[in-house]
Amino acid sequence: MSEEFEAVDGGLKILRYPNPILKEESKTVEIFDDELSDFISKLFAAMRASDGVGLAAPQVGVLKKIAVVEYDQKSYVLINPEVIESDGEQLGEEGCLSFPGIYANVKRPNHVKIKAQDETGNINILEAEGYTARAFLHEMDHLNGKVFIDYLSNLKKSAIRKKLMKNTGGHF
Ligand code: NI
Repeated sequence: MSEEFEAVDGGLKILRYPNPILKEESKTVEIFDDELSDFISKLFAAMRASDGVGLAAPQVGVLKKIAVVEYDQKSYVLINPEVIESDGEQLGEEGCLSFPGIYANVKRPNHVKIKAQDETGNINILEAEGYTARAFLHEMDHLNGKVFIDYLSNLKKSAIRKKLMKNTGGHF
């Protein structure tokens, strides 16, 4: 793997909030090669190893518009994803591999249509509702430097920040 795909600390280590990388915007993927496929396999492996439903490249320190989701025995690869349609509303609990032990209710559209590329560069239209739609939108937020607690009040956010710093001994 070239440096471009090399994650922080040399492996696919999942970064924890408040790591500043989680606030950065990812770049569009332009090259669809074996290296990209390898990286995607590793993302799936890291997600499964942590019992996650989704994982986005910036969570392992790679600022590229790549995310994977696995739910209800279906796997999805989202490269350069864009929402092209969304409607309805759902309120449900979310967690995130970058926020161990933290869960919060987030309001999201209930149905989304997403345009995304797969690892070969093909453009697919993915339609999802309910929990799958929620997972897609959560992962896509990561690609834009947004995390789920950004939907919460400042008071709740600072309580979560305090709790996580206590757990990890973080200083930022
Ligand atoms: Ni997340």
